[in-house]
Amino acid sequence: MKSRTPFQLPQDFYMGCSTASAQIEGGETNHSWYEWSIQEHHIVDGTNTLRANNHWMQYERDLDLICGLSIKDYRFSIEWSRIEPVEGKFDSEALLRYRQEIEQMISVGIRPLLTLHHFSNPIWFEKKGAFLSPDCVLLFRRYVMYVVSALQDIVNEFVTINEPNVYAVNGYVFGTWPPGIKSASACFHVMENMAKCHIATYQDIHGLYKDKDVRVGFANHYRVFVSYDHNPFHRLQAAIMSQLFQEKLTEAMSTGIFHFPLNGKREFRKGTYYDFIGINYYSRSAVHHFRADFLPDKPVNDLGWEIYPEGLAIIMHSLYRKYKAPIFITENGTCDARDSFRTSFIFDHLKIIADSGLPVERYYYWTLMDNFEWAEGESAPFGLIAYDFNKGIPTPRKSAQFYKEIIENRGVSQDLIDRYL
Ligand code: BGC
Repeated sequence: MKSRTPFQLPQDFYMGCSTASAQIEGGETNHSWYEWSIQEHHIVDGTNTLRANNHWMQYERDLDLICGLSIKDYRFSIEWSRIEPVEGKFDSEALLRYRQEIEQMISVGIRPLLTLHHFSNPIWFEKKGAFLSPDCVLLFRRYVMYVVSALQDIVNEFVTINEPNVYAVNGYVFGTWPPGIKSASACFHVMENMAKCHIATYQDIHGLYKDKDVRVGFANHYRVFVSYDHNPFHRLQAAIMSQLFQEKLTEAMSTGIFHFPLNGKREFRKGTYYDFIGINYYSRSAVHHFRADFLPDKPVNDLGWEIYPEGLAIIMHSLYRKYKAPIFITENGTCDARDSFRTSFIFDHLKIIADSGLPVERYYYWTLMDNFEWAEGESAPFGLIAYDFNKGIPTPRKSAQFYKEIIENRGVSQDLIDRYL
């Protein structure tokens, strides 16, 4: 067993939790993930997005749960299909419903970090080819400006796009997510266009806020890629995969410089298109035969993903070296149905942050409560809070109590270690 020692969290470091609309809201049939999830064999357990956590109807319950954990930072997303159900027609009632939720969270002292795109698209946009459509930048900008202009008096932190790399790879290489395409060139084209959407909306949002404080970034998914064995070709493949999956795209989104295989030449000036470095970190990949696998005999979570906290330090240092900005860990969490290692997972990752010496400002645990976990459906519990989908009942886990006590103590004392680890 690892020996664990107490630590204090840095000043100006805040812990929160993260969610996504299609995974929690329920009740919406007008987005790509609903359509995808009701088709046979797409979702491991045969569930779909329709019920999820019923958050759309019960956001007050969920805000109470967040408050109950002493969480003051909440990252969540807005569902584009609710805001613009038909191309060019905006639903002010839906926007008002989000506004009420945000006003309520602010009134109880929770700071919102709003994600504008988290995997799901309106069906009309999907039918046009989504981020392969030549109009995508225009359409995305129009939606973003509608939302941001209406919320600018109450929100000043935004993630434009969540994990464009995962969206592109799962939807356009593996074909396991909508739209189920298998084409590397389509995948790179999607990445390119999502990068353009990010840069354009980064500029639009700053233009709108002028001198008012606003922070805008994106949240990519980062993995540590290593060779599966001592084969030098596998080592080379690991480096190539890291470039193709995360490094080129992050460079394009952050600076406007598009390098092969991405192509966005002469469209944007070289610049700085981020106010923080957003990191979603979960695991390490071991590469052989151009396949991302996991190293054998390592600790894993319920989905078989290696638990590798040291990887967070590797990713943070390498991104900070290049991009020098405050770091937001926009997602980090684990799938653990029995809640038997979530506390140690949280401890080990926070300790890495505390020891890093880097300006890490935020840590958003993924996720508040068990939700609709994409292709895994309702069967992959990442939540601090357990959720009974049939009864609609949330029950905080022991790890939720642990998380709350870390927030309240701004660190982990020996007493906490004795009680939880
Ligand atoms: C995504 C989340 C997802 C989580 C766990 C991230 O890739 O942004 O939506 O639920 O990982 O798989």
